[in-house]
Amino acid sequence: KLVYVLNGPNLNRLGLREPGIYGSQTLDDIGAMLVERGETLGFEIDLRQSNHEGHLVDWLHEAEDNGAHAVLLNAGAYTHTSIALHDAIRSIKVPVIEVHLSNPHLREEFRHKSWVGMAAKGTVAGFGAQSYLVALEAAATL
Ligand code: DQA
Repeated sequence: KLVYVLNGPNLNRLGLREPGIYGSQTLDDIGAMLVERGETLGFEIDLRQSNHEGHLVDWLHEAEDNGAHAVLLNAGAYTHTSIALHDAIRSIKVPVIEVHLSNPHLREEFRHKSWVGMAAKGTVAGFGAQSYLVALEAAATL
C-alpha cells in the first residue's frame, strides 16, 4: 500500500527553520521515521517536498491515479491560502490527512483558517515530527 507524504513550502528548511516552533528534526529524519513505521504497517512511503503550489496539486492527482491508500499533506503556508489545494483534495477519492508540526490554532490569526482542513479527511497538528507518525497510524485505520 502506497502512502504519499506531501510537504509544501519551506519544509525543506526543517531543522534549520525556527527550531523553537518546528523542532530540530529534518524532513529526511521524518522520512526515515515514516519508512520505519510504514514497514510495520505494510506501507510504502513516497515522501516529497515542493515550494510550488502546482506541484502539490499535480501530486494529489498522481496519488489518485497511482491508487495510493492515503496522502499525508503538510501544505505549509498554502494551507491558509490555497483554494487550488482545497479543490484538488475534493477532486480525488484517496483520503488526505492534513498534518502540521505546530498547532496553527495556538498561533497567529492568519493561520487559523485551513483550506486544506476544510477538504481533508482529518487533521493531526501540534505534536512536532510525531504528528506525521500519528497521521500514518490514522491512515492504517482507513
Ligand atoms: C505548518 C504550519 C503553517 O502555518 C506554516 O506556514 C508552515 C508549517 C506546520 O507544520 O506547523 O509552514 O504547516
